[in-house]
Amino acid sequence: MIQGDCHVLMRAMPASSIGLVVTDPPYGIDYRDGAGRRIANDHSPQIWWLDQAYRVLKLGAAIACFCRWDVEQAFASALKWAGFTLRSQVVWDKQIHGKGDLRRTFAPQHELILFATKGARFSFKAGRPKSIMRFRRPGRERVHPTEKPVPLLRELVRRLSTNDLPVLDPFCGSGSTGEACGLEGKRFVGIEIDKEYARIARRRIARATPRTRKDKMRGGKERRHAEK
Ligand SMILES: C[S@@+](CC[C@H](N)C(=O)[O-])C[C@H]1O[C@@H](n2cnc3c(N)ncnc32)[C@H](O)[C@@H]1O
Repeated sequence: MIQGDCHVLMRAMPASSIGLVVTDPPYGIDYRDGAGRRIANDHSPQIWWLDQAYRVLKLGAAIACFCRWDVEQAFASALKWAGFTLRSQVVWDKQIHGKGDLRRTFAPQHELILFATKGARFSFKAGRPKSIMRFRRPGRERVHPTEKPVPLLRELVRRLSTNDLPVLDPFCGSGSTGEACGLEGKRFVGIEIDKEYARIARRRIARATPRTRKDKMRGGKERRHAEK
């Protein structure tokens, strides 16, 4: 988990070192939640990292990028421009709707996930998932204004992982993708520009990541040493 700007930090990552990208970048919609909280860099769709995502991904690996209906074209074009093969539009049905414009828009109950691959060699390991995924969005317990549900992210990680390389989330917010990876036993690289969210993410990921036997043994030795 690294705190900083992904546009800078991804340039230092080795090529073909990442096995899957699952991310939820600022959509560029100047979003505010009920409490008026905003997120950094939400002034325009954040698409200028996709060339680096393509470079760091292993050939044949996948990317899942959240977006919304009104910025979908920007993200779809940017994915193609970066070199990805666009494969599916997935609908995340939140099962309960948000507010939006109460008189002039449909009550918004879904967001989109664009699924693309680097090259043609990708294939699903365990059957073909359906293009509508139903998971309730986090409620009052959420710590980030645009937090995504861990069960949805676990499903994406399970379905789209095809290798043992780490999963990358360059806009990891409060660390939901990292928590999902911890629970799925996958290695994870997270980047977040906001110090407070990076701190929260670090804590969530540590809590979800099972300690290896070696860590446990080392912990035991340290405890015994401290007790002496
Ligand atoms: C839509 S939110 C992600 C929320 C996350 N999915 C969660 O469940 O908590 C996007 C995040 O990207 C972060 N961000 C914006 N610009 C960034 C940048 N250049 N590099 C890294 N993080 C950035 C924001 O601070 C925000 O927390």
